[in-house]
Amino acid sequence: MNSHLPYSQACENNKAPILEKLREIFNAPGTVVEIGTGTGQHAEHFAAALPHLQWQPTDHPRAAHLAVARLQQAALPNVLPILELDVNQMPWPVSACRWAFSANTAHIMAWEEVETMFQGVGACLQKDGAFCLYGPFKHEGGFTSESNKAFDQSLKAKASHMGIRDIEDLSVLAETTGLALKDDYAMPANNEMLIFRR
Ligand SMILES: C[S@@+](CC[C@H](N)C(=O)[O-])C[C@H]1O[C@@H](n2cnc3c(N)ncnc32)[C@H](O)[C@@H]1O
Repeated sequence: MNSHLPYSQACENNKAPILEKLREIFNAPGTVVEIGTGTGQHAEHFAAALPHLQWQPTDHPRAAHLAVARLQQAALPNVLPILELDVNQMPWPVSACRWAFSANTAHIMAWEEVETMFQGVGACLQKDGAFCLYGPFKHEGGFTSESNKAFDQSLKAKASHMGIRDIEDLSVLAETTGLALKDDYAMPANNEMLIFRR
C-alpha cells in the first residue's frame, strides 16, 4: 500500500457497512456510475468485492486526479478509468447505466448541483436500476443527531451553499427526474443510505 495516496479515514470506517448494502441493491450485472469518487477507496473496495459490476468512477474535474494512482495500482479488471464529471455539465459523459452510487456529496454540493445530480442520474439510469445515495440527512427539517447538527453548522461556516439535505426535499426532487425514493436504511454513525428507483 502506497502511504502517499489520498486517503479518507471516513471511507475506511464506512466502506464495510456500505458494501453490505450495495451487495443487496446492486444484485445483478451492470455498470455503476459513481459520482464524486474522491480518493477512490470506495471504488476499489466495492469493485473488488462485487465482480459482477463494472465500476465507473467519476469526479469533478478539480478532484478527478485524486483517485487515479490508487485505482491504477489496484488494477481491477472491472474498474474503468475515472471520468471527469461535473454534475452541472449536461449531457454527462456516461451513457446508460444500471446502477448509480454517490457518498457524502449532497451536503457538499450546492442545492442547484444536487438538482443537476438527480437530473443526470435520471437521464442515464436504466429502467430496472437504482441510485444509492449515502450520507447524513435531515428528516422534516430536523437533524437525527447532535453530531449531524454540529457538522451542518461547520459546513455552513466553511461555505454557505453547503449543508445537510432534507430527505423530503430529495424525495420531491427525485420525482421531478423520474425517480422515486423507495428505501431509507439507517447506517452507522448517524448516516443513511437512500435508494431511488425509476
Ligand atoms: C466529501 S467528498 C466525498 C468523496 C467520496 N465520495 C467519499 O465518500 O469519501 C465530496 C465529493 O463531491 C465531489 N463534488 C463536489 N461538487 C461536485 C460537482 N459539481 N460535480 C461532481 N462532483 C462534485 C467532490 O469533488 C468530492 O469528491
